[in-house]
Amino acid sequence: MRRRIFAPAIALTLVFFGAQSAPARNASPPSSAALIGHWAFDEGTGTTAADSSGGGHPLTLQGGASWTKGVAGPSALAVTPQQDAASSGPVIDTSKSFTVSAWVNLASTNGYQTFVSEDGSQVSGFYLQLRADTGRFAFTRLAYDSTAAYGAVATSSIIPQPGVWYLLTGVYDAAAQTNSLYVDGALQQTVPILAPWSATGPLAVGRGFYNGAPTDWVSGAIDDVRAYSGALPAQDIRALAGTGSITVHEDQVGPAINPTQFGTFLEEINHSGDGGVYAELVRNRDLKESTSSPVYWSAVQDSGASAAIALDTSQPLDSASPVSLKLSVASLPAGGRAGIANDGYWGVPVTPATTYHLSFYARAGAGFAGLLTASLESSSGRVFASATIPAITAGWARYTATLTTAKGIGSTLDNRLVIATSSPAAAGGTAWFAMVSLFPPTYDSTPNGLRADLMQKIAALHPGFLRVPGGNYLEGQTLATYFNWKNTIGPVQDRPGHQDSAWGYWSQDGMGLLEYLEMAEELGAQPILAVFAGYTLNGTVVPQDQLAPYVQDALDEIQYAIGPATSTWGAMRAADGHPAPFDLHYVEIGNEDSFDRSGSYNGYRFPMFYDAIKAAYPQLKIIATTNVTSRTPDVIDDHYYSGNPDVIAGDAHVYDNTSRSGPGHIVGEYAVTQGSPTGTLAAALGEAAFLTGIERNAGIVIGASYAPLLINVNAQSWPTNLIGYNGLVSYGSPSYYAQRMLGDSLGDVVAPSQIVGGNGNLWAVATTKSGTTYLAVVNRGGTAATVDVSLAGVPAVSGGTATVLTGNPTAMNSVTHPTAVAPATEKLGSSGPVFRHTFPANSLTVLALSTG
Ligand code: AHR
Repeated sequence: MRRRIFAPAIALTLVFFGAQSAPARNASPPSSAALIGHWAFDEGTGTTAADSSGGGHPLTLQGGASWTKGVAGPSALAVTPQQDAASSGPVIDTSKSFTVSAWVNLASTNGYQTFVSEDGSQVSGFYLQLRADTGRFAFTRLAYDSTAAYGAVATSSIIPQPGVWYLLTGVYDAAAQTNSLYVDGALQQTVPILAPWSATGPLAVGRGFYNGAPTDWVSGAIDDVRAYSGALPAQDIRALAGTGSITVHEDQVGPAINPTQFGTFLEEINHSGDGGVYAELVRNRDLKESTSSPVYWSAVQDSGASAAIALDTSQPLDSASPVSLKLSVASLPAGGRAGIANDGYWGVPVTPATTYHLSFYARAGAGFAGLLTASLESSSGRVFASATIPAITAGWARYTATLTTAKGIGSTLDNRLVIATSSPAAAGGTAWFAMVSLFPPTYDSTPNGLRADLMQKIAALHPGFLRVPGGNYLEGQTLATYFNWKNTIGPVQDRPGHQDSAWGYWSQDGMGLLEYLEMAEELGAQPILAVFAGYTLNGTVVPQDQLAPYVQDALDEIQYAIGPATSTWGAMRAADGHPAPFDLHYVEIGNEDSFDRSGSYNGYRFPMFYDAIKAAYPQLKIIATTNVTSRTPDVIDDHYYSGNPDVIAGDAHVYDNTSRSGPGHIVGEYAVTQGSPTGTLAAALGEAAFLTGIERNAGIVIGASYAPLLINVNAQSWPTNLIGYNGLVSYGSPSYYAQRMLGDSLGDVVAPSQIVGGNGNLWAVATTKSGTTYLAVVNRGGTAATVDVSLAGVPAVSGGTATVLTGNPTAMNSVTHPTAVAPATEKLGSSGPVFRHTFPANSLTVLALSTG
C-alpha cells in the first residue's frame, strides 16, 4: 500500500519560502467570496445532484452512489468505495483563493477518505479529507500537479467518530499563502502553502485523485457541499456551521440496558485487599511476609526494660501457622514495659468514638507472668485506647479485647498497636504470639469484613457485577502461586496464604473466595467468578493430560459458590457461615489468555472447562478471555488500556457494527493510564466517551469494569487506578466520579441519539426510564459547546438537573485534595422538547430530564 508523506508545515516554510521573505500572513483583508457551486443533495432520488448556486455544475452520481437522510435538508449523498458524484469539468480555480465546505458523516474512520476534491492530471488540486496517517480530518494541497510535490496539510485537532455529522471547511488563501481547516466552524489549523496551479478536471464528491487515478473513496454520507471563489471569512464559516444539535430519538427503541452494565473488578494489586478493602489493621498477622525477620513488628522496651522479638518455628500454633512471634523479656524493672508492637499498613488508623476488635493467640513460657495491656497509641506514646488482658497461659489460647477511643480525639494514622506487660514477674520470661488481629468496625458489621469507607465508595457506583479474583492475581507467575481458592476458605488461621507473584507481595488470604463473594453480595452486585484455567504468567501451560484436576477444582469452586448446603462444597460454604448460595450467573475461564501463544486455550483448555461447567451447570454463562473457535462462548472479555485518552475515546465505536447474534462482550478491564496513582480528568473524559459507546451498544456489550479499582497510595503496583487511599483517608479519581455519574443516571433502555456539529468533540448517549430521560454528553474539547438538545417523541421537559464534572484536563484528586475534581449539580427549568444547552470545555455532563 502506498504511503503519502507530506512535509510538515515547518519544512514547507523552508521549501517554499526559505529563499524569499516570510509570507505576509494576515497582511491582506479577507478576500470576498462568491458561491460558485452548491449541491444540497436534496433530490433524494435519481442520479443527478443539482447545483443551486447558478454556476451550472450539476454532479452525476456514479458507481451506484445513492441517497440517505440528510443533515441540511431531507437527504444527503450516500457513498461507499467506488461510488461518488462528479461534475463534468472544473468548478474551482485552485490557483486562486477558494473555500470548500461539506457536511460529512463517516460510517468508518479507516483509511484515507476524501469528501471533496478537484482532479488534476496526477493529483487533486485539493483534498478535503480524512487522513489514514493521522486518523484526523485535513485540508490538503500539493504544491504542483505531481505525487512528488510537497504538500501542506491543515489537520484537525479533533479525532472524528463514526456516526457524527461534522461540517468541514477548507480555505486556500492565495494572498496569505495559507491553507486552513475548520471543523464545525472552529479553526483547527492554518499552514503555509503556495500552490499556484489550477486543477482542470471535475470536482468530485466522495473521492480524491492520486497518481493519475480516482482513489480514497468515502464510506458514509456527505451533504450540502459548497464551493466559493475567495477565502470565506471566519464569521461566515461559523455561520455555515450554525448551532450544533443533539437529537435524542425517544421515538425509536434502542437496546435494553443490562443489569450488569456498569460493574467493578477487584484483585490483589496495589494492596487492594491486604492494607486495602480487607479491614484487618495488623500487618504480617500470619508472620509469613518474611522468613528472615518479623517485619512490621517491633519489640517494646520502655523505661529500662530490655526485650527482643524473633520468628520462631519451635512453637507453632498449628500446621497452617507454623511460625510464631517469640517475645523474650531480658529485664523489666518496675515502671518499665516490655512487649510487641505492630505498625500496621503504613500506620494504624485511629478515629474518635470507635471500637476496635482485638484477637490473638498466645502462650506463656516458663517465667512469663502477669497481665497484658493492649493499646492503640501514637508513635510518640499517646494512648488512645487500651484494654487489659488476663495473664496468658502455658498452652496456646485465643484472647480477645475491645479497644474504644474517646469522642474528642482527632483522626490520625501515625499509630501502632501494642501488646505489652508492665509486670516485673515477666522479667526473664518468654511468650509466643500468633494471628494477632485488629479490626475496626466493618462495612455491614461483617466479621472478618471490609473497610467501610472504601465499600461505601464502591457501593455508590451501583455496580451490577464484581469480577473476581483477578486479573493477573488469578493466574500467578507459577503453578505454585496462582489463586488456589481451596487454600483461601475456612477459618483465617487455617489459611496458608500465598505469594502474590503477579504483583510481588504476600497475600495472607484473609480476603479469600468467601470474602470476594460476600463483597459482591454486600454491594448488591452479582459476582463474575474467574476460575484458574491452567495458564500462568510465566508462560506455563498445564498439559492436556494433566488439566482434569484443575477443571475439577473449578467445578468444586462453583459448587462452593452455588451448590446446595447438602453438597460437599456447598456444605463447606455453610460451615464458613454462608448457607445460602450466591447469585452467580457468569463464570470466566482464565484471564487474558491471548497471551498464551501455544494455542492451548482454544485447543483444549477452554473446551475442557466449558464442557464440564456446561454439563454440570447448564444455567451458567461462560466467558472466554479471548476469541475461541473450538466452542462458542456466551461472552468474550475484552480489555482496553491506553495512556492516550484519544485512543480509548475512539474505542467508543468498536462495537457499533458487532454482530448482535453473539457471543456477547464484556469489557472486564479498561482505563486510560494517565495520571498516578489515580487518573487525570482528561483520562476520565476519554473513558466516559468510551462508556457512551458501551452503553449505546448494550445489545451486545453486557457491561464494563475499570481496572484496577483500588490503590493504597503507599504501595503502587500499577500506574493509574480508580480509588486511592491510605489507612485513614480515601478518595475517588475523576474517573470514579464519571462512573458514578453514569451509574446514577442509567435508564432502562437506550434512546438512539444523533450529534450534529457542536464543536466536533462531543460524545453522547441517552437512556430513558419511566418519565425520565438521561442524556450523558462528553465534551473533550477545550471550548464550550452550545447545542440544541432535541427530544424527539417527547412533548415537553418539566425540569430536571444537570450534573457536571469539569476542570483542568490535567487535574487529579489525591489523599490531600480528595475532591479537587468533583461533580456539581444544578437544577434545570421547564422547556419544550427542544432547548439550548452549553456543555463546558473538558466536561462530562449528565442531564436528568423529567419528560413524563
Ligand atoms: O488491571 C491490572 C492488570 O491488567 C490485570 O491484572 C490484568 O488482567 C491486566 O493485564
